[in-house]
Amino acid sequence: MPTVRRVPAAVVRPLRTAILRPTWTDRLATYDQDETVAVHVAAYLDGDDAVHGVGTIYAEAPPDDNRDAIPETAYADGASWRLRGMATSEAARGAGLGRLVLEECFAVVRERSGSVLWCNARLVAVPFYARLGMAAVGPEFDIPGIGPHYVMWREV
Ligand SMILES: CC(C)(COP(=O)(O)OP(=O)(O)OC[C@H]1O[C@@H](n2cnc3c(N)ncnc32)[C@H](O)[C@@H]1OP(=O)(O)O)[C@@H](O)C(=O)NCCC(=O)NCCS
Repeated sequence: MPTVRRVPAAVVRPLRTAILRPTWTDRLATYDQDETVAVHVAAYLDGDDAVHGVGTIYAEAPPDDNRDAIPETAYADGASWRLRGMATSEAARGAGLGRLVLEECFAVVRERSGSVLWCNARLVAVPFYARLGMAAVGPEFDIPGIGPHYVMWREV
């Protein structure tokens, strides 16, 4: 059975960088919140110590631009958590690790008395997030060098 663990930032950064910033060969993708408030989740295949799935979350309100589409309660202090650095290794795609990581993130949000998880979803990942119950809210926007995104969110 694949497993999931809450881990230090250093455990998730190599896969985060390899999948989401593949041109960064001389540095690791880091977030300001990595070593302080963020919670990091790693997923493992049965009998394999290598990290094959990662995700990082921390408390942050959704973008103000989406206030018309996301309930106002999501904007209360501590209500919403942001997901970043969501990735599964190419070798492990479709094996359920992304679902495991995201479900563990939902569990963390609930434990911390949050009620919403949101992310900036790459267009290619929108069907994955939708399968996990997250809804896209418009408009589509571009992150330079990465491509088109939607904000996606759900109550947890
Ligand atoms: C998006 C990503 C994290 C999904 O991870 P994964 O481990 O392959 O996903 P899972 O195997 O856990 O899939 C979970 C569910 O989503 C569905 N799903 C996953 N990718 C899908 C896709 N592209 N289209 C439709 N459904 C998809 C699966 O069929 C599965 O459904 P099920 O549980 O009902 O069978 C992975 O494809 C990835 O790392 N992509 C590149 C990086 C990326 O774009 N990250 C997101 C940045 S915003």
